[in-house]
Amino acid sequence: MIAIYLDDPNRIETAQQLASKLRLPITPTPHGYPILLVITSARLELRLPDSHFKPIYVDFLGANWSHRLKQIGRDNELIAKAVGIKKSFRPTIVDATAGLGGDALVLSALGCRVTMIERSPIIAALLRDGLERAKFEQLELLEGDTKQILPNLAKRQSIDVVYLDPMFPIRTKSALVKKEMRVLKEIVGEDPDSSELLNIALPLVQKRVVVKRPLHAATLTSLQPDITYKGKATRFDVYLK
Ligand SMILES: C[S@@+](CC[C@H](N)C(=O)[O-])C[C@H]1O[C@@H](n2cnc3c(N)ncnc32)[C@H](O)[C@@H]1O
Repeated sequence: MIAIYLDDPNRIETAQQLASKLRLPITPTPHGYPILLVITSARLELRLPDSHFKPIYVDFLGANWSHRLKQIGRDNELIAKAVGIKKSFRPTIVDATAGLGGDALVLSALGCRVTMIERSPIIAALLRDGLERAKFEQLELLEGDTKQILPNLAKRQSIDVVYLDPMFPIRTKSALVKKEMRVLKEIVGEDPDSSELLNIALPLVQKRVVVKRPLHAATLTSLQPDITYKGKATRFDVYLK
């Protein structure tokens, strides 16, 4: 299904390293595979060659993100309230479902130290590539399953907040669903263990677990949140320690 394609022949070593890490073939042509991880001279990109999707990559230094990051601090960010940021308190956060790192970047721009965990090797490769280019010191990435990593991490460092944003089923072909989400879903599938993550995280945090959900979706488990912050399309369910 997925192969690595080299757009910049000078980066053959990078391609070989990635191929052996992800156990993927390197293809000499950009056709014949529905999903390609493309190594360009600038970055690592995910492409669906036979579709209308634009390449997906992590570019924390690009125009979209720099515009968004400029708003931070000016806007009253709901996510800041959800994780419990105060004037004099910046929680240490584990983003236990990192994806392409968007929420983690916002949280780090708000002044928090964020450890991200991502289990899909392909998503993690895209994220690591973006992080290496951006060189943000407040953001760290651990690759693997949160169910194993989080309990070990909690033994080594104090975790104020665990942030969870598991995949939720995409209902229709609605144009409102962001393209990244659709492709992400194609690669990582559903997150059937997401309720387990809440149960594992709660005893390990000092302050709270925050779960991002679609506005009208059911709660992650039968446990009711202590606080809910509602946005236009999403909400944050907060489970206090
Ligand atoms: C909806 S995406 C997160 C999007 C992210 N908040 C962002 O802003 O880009 C969910 C991600 O969590 C990851 N994930 C789900 N369960 C996980 C687990 N048990 N351990 C590590 N990663 C997990 C999936 O692979 C997927 O990339």
